[in-house]
Amino acid sequence: MSDVTMEKIISLCKRRGFIYPGSEIYGGLSGTWDYGPLGVELKNNIKALWWSTFIRERDDMFGVDAAILMHPKVWEASGHVAGFSDPLVECKKCKKRFRADHVEGGKCPECGGALGEVRQFNMMFKTQIGAAEDEQSVSYLRPETAGGIFVNFKNVVDSFHPKLPFGIGQIGKAFRNEIAPRDFIFRVREMEQMEIEYFVRPSEWEAAFEEWRKESLGFFEAVGIEKNSVHELEVADGDRAHYSKRTIDFEFDFPFGRKELSGLAYRTDFDLAAHAKASGQDISYLDADGSRTVPHVIEPSFGVDRTILALLTSVYTEDELGGETRTYLKFNKAVAPVKAAIFPLLKNKPELVAKAREVYMMLKKVIPQIVWDDNGNIGKRYRRQDEIGTPYCITIDFDTLGENPELKDTVTLRDRDTGEQERVAIGELIAKIAA
Ligand code: GAP
Repeated sequence: MSDVTMEKIISLCKRRGFIYPGSEIYGGLSGTWDYGPLGVELKNNIKALWWSTFIRERDDMFGVDAAILMHPKVWEASGHVAGFSDPLVECKKCKKRFRADHVEGGKCPECGGALGEVRQFNMMFKTQIGAAEDEQSVSYLRPETAGGIFVNFKNVVDSFHPKLPFGIGQIGKAFRNEIAPRDFIFRVREMEQMEIEYFVRPSEWEAAFEEWRKESLGFFEAVGIEKNSVHELEVADGDRAHYSKRTIDFEFDFPFGRKELSGLAYRTDFDLAAHAKASGQDISYLDADGSRTVPHVIEPSFGVDRTILALLTSVYTEDELGGETRTYLKFNKAVAPVKAAIFPLLKNKPELVAKAREVYMMLKKVIPQIVWDDNGNIGKRYRRQDEIGTPYCITIDFDTLGENPELKDTVTLRDRDTGEQERVAIGELIAKIAA
């Protein structure tokens, strides 16, 4: 990953169908990106890993999928209407707008003109609900998925009667009208988050914070993000979000510098107390001893897009193999968008193609993320699969058909990272390539 640049990552993502600029044929739409056929597989694999690790495999976690559009009072109570803003400056000469904290030297980065006063710009996307355009029809696209969790706290407690501590998790889209989207999928206007609100008794917050700090690091490792490139930053008083009493940012060494990958915040009882007050509902928790508490909350918040960018930065590799330079993505088996590719050695030999097809169908039934490739010579097919990070290539040749009776019903299994090939019985393939 040492020589990886953003240009190389962006170009590979576009060329090989991972990520395309949003609305590209119309010249693009700033801050939006579209995931292509391989990108959506990669993204789904990462989300599935998160969901199984943090929701399905734990007894203290519940999943929800709340609506993106929420009652506007949600965002008033949470403090987002009043305080979810970034500092904005406008150039007096060219009228371009910038985030004040991204501008150096007090001059316009585009034309060098003088800048106007700094003002606060609310990042929520406003929209109208229904046909009437009045004050009451205003709503917002959610700026974080967390809101949908807090408003369902009471529902989950009433349905499942969980014991503290317990958590609710959600994966979904969130929207921010960023003043300056930049760095590919790092800062976008439409993103996806994977968030947990972990509810604890007030006295237990420090232990839970420490537990989720370790869990977060463990998740990055399971995804395949380079461990030595992840750093923890204790966010200082004054720099934290309005709801947080302690925050750690997990930062990553992206090609453009060390920047926030995900966050871990202690949100106290800020949200539940605020929603109880604004909605007039009792959102307290009835403990086993009969006492009522408003739980405090620890929030591990992961951005799907930044996780993907940190992963691409981590796995992008260039090396020399067989005297040729090659590029490959060193995805682990769990997240690789394609788990294996099946090649008939020659595509104009019907008996080879028929046998390869049989192996392909047999594998695909068990491991759906398998592809067929009979285009070009074997070397070219290897390069193509390396570039998209396919861990294994399987070649069906004349020995598979029994030309050498000792090798009948065996195939060549080629490892992406080493380029080494071994002869494997068809019956052993599933165990070898399964994640
Ligand atoms: N609920 C807490 C929350 O939303 P945040 O630090 O504002 O906290 C959490 O966002 C994560 O969401 C970030 O660490 C990042 O991974 C991702 N994220 C936030 N804004 C983003 C943007 N404009 N583009 C891409 N990802 C973003």
